[in-house]
Amino acid sequence: DHTNADTLRTPIVAVLGHVDHGKTSLLDKIRGSAVSEGEAGAITQHIGATDIPLDTISGMAGELIDPTDFDLPGLLFIDTPGHHSFSTLRARGGALADIAVLVVDVNDGFQPQTEEAIDILRRTGTPFVVAANKVDTTPGWNPQDGEPIQKSLEAQSERAESMLNENLYEIIGQLSDAGFSADLYWRVQDFQKNIGVVPLSAITGEGVPDLLTVLMGLSQRFMKEEMAIDVQGAGEGTVLEVKDERGFGATIDTVVYDGVVRNGDQIVVGGQEEPIVTEIRALLQPRPLEEIRTEKKFEKVGEVGAAAGVKIAAPDLDRAMAGAPVRVVRDRPLEEVVEEVKAELAEIEVDTAEDGVVVKADTLGSLEAMANALREAEVPILRAEVGDIAPRDIAVAETANQDEHKSILGFNVDLLANAETELENADIKLFTDEVIYQLIEDYETYVEEKQR
Ligand code: GTP
Ligand code: MG
Repeated sequence: DHTNADTLRTPIVAVLGHVDHGKTSLLDKIRGSAVSEGEAGAITQHIGATDIPLDTISGMAGELIDPTDFDLPGLLFIDTPGHHSFSTLRARGGALADIAVLVVDVNDGFQPQTEEAIDILRRTGTPFVVAANKVDTTPGWNPQDGEPIQKSLEAQSERAESMLNENLYEIIGQLSDAGFSADLYWRVQDFQKNIGVVPLSAITGEGVPDLLTVLMGLSQRFMKEEMAIDVQGAGEGTVLEVKDERGFGATIDTVVYDGVVRNGDQIVVGGQEEPIVTEIRALLQPRPLEEIRTEKKFEKVGEVGAAAGVKIAAPDLDRAMAGAPVRVVRDRPLEEVVEEVKAELAEIEVDTAEDGVVVKADTLGSLEAMANALREAEVPILRAEVGDIAPRDIAVAETANQDEHKSILGFNVDLLANAETELENADIKLFTDEVIYQLIEDYETYVEEKQR
């Protein structure tokens, strides 16, 4: 039988931000500190995620946290590498992440991917805090390794502190321009109304105790109800990435956010044309304490409970889509689960028109974000799909009526080799980029020039 604490799952924390602003370094710092806390096996590695238990968090946060205030088991962090669109992080039509950390370089402030992250956080209503990273690069900074930020500020010269403050208020101003009232986190009374900004350094670790404290506090206060799950229920998850794995073929890196997934389970996965029905051949996790992204050795596990990241090997997964739902069938009629997956995919609303551009994106979430941005820019869409640019897309684009619509907009996708000559011979303009609004801006500039 389970105590209450057993049925509260770990909140999922997405770490977002512009390229090079320090997302991975921040997680490395948290992982490294967790390891040096000396609790062997205290942190567990997952596919695409790192699980930090409450004990370890309170060890790191020191005097800032009283662990008896909490009954959530810890925090599950998901890194979003620059090339991998975080808009993949969806679940049941909303956000997969329960909470987010938006990492902003204090010197650089808001950058294009910061803006995109903010847009998605706003749209999905995901609570977030801002990690104002790299405070140690402030000229004249006197590093205070691993200390709470207030303690570190006491050790700084007036000049260094005022330079940092200038940068921090710049970021607070940018948040306000984006429609969020924000302040330094210790001045925030109501974290549901105001965004807390936590100054920190992913390198020296100062301010990291504060970030962990704020995240635990937020999760405990505002999300406890959502964390109560049936730990034995049929597993539900989201595909982060579809990857070929030697010896297993196509596999799906999945974050399980509800219930339990067992080896041998029949599952339904969102696919390119229709839901894929298959049976799990293996559940794979990185071996303990190894770096996930370089991890090549997996351990087979019998089951995985929420919240966790796991690699699922099963036949027919090559047409699975990043961002798509994964559902365990277990005691329900298969047809019901298939319908559920279909309904969830249908929620990703892309309004198409009789005439318009062709849109391709790497994941369902980024396709949705593209569609929203194009709607705002009043650019109609003829066809929108997940996947690389194929000959078929060129054929579709050629059917557009207006010249300016004979275009393909690709976000985070490649032009397939067999589509290259086709593109050369077609009167189609191809736009590709890794930043949505850059892509749309390029297209708009092209249309303007065409109309001159
Ligand atoms: P992508 O995954 O490419 O989007 O980048 P990222 O956000 O994960 O950034 P990453 O952690 O790789 O850091 C980029 C660079 O900034 C690295 O050279 C880090 O060492 C450096 N860096 C990150 N955080 C800090 C910090 O707090 N202080 C200093 N001085 N350097 C930092
Ligand atoms: Mg990174």
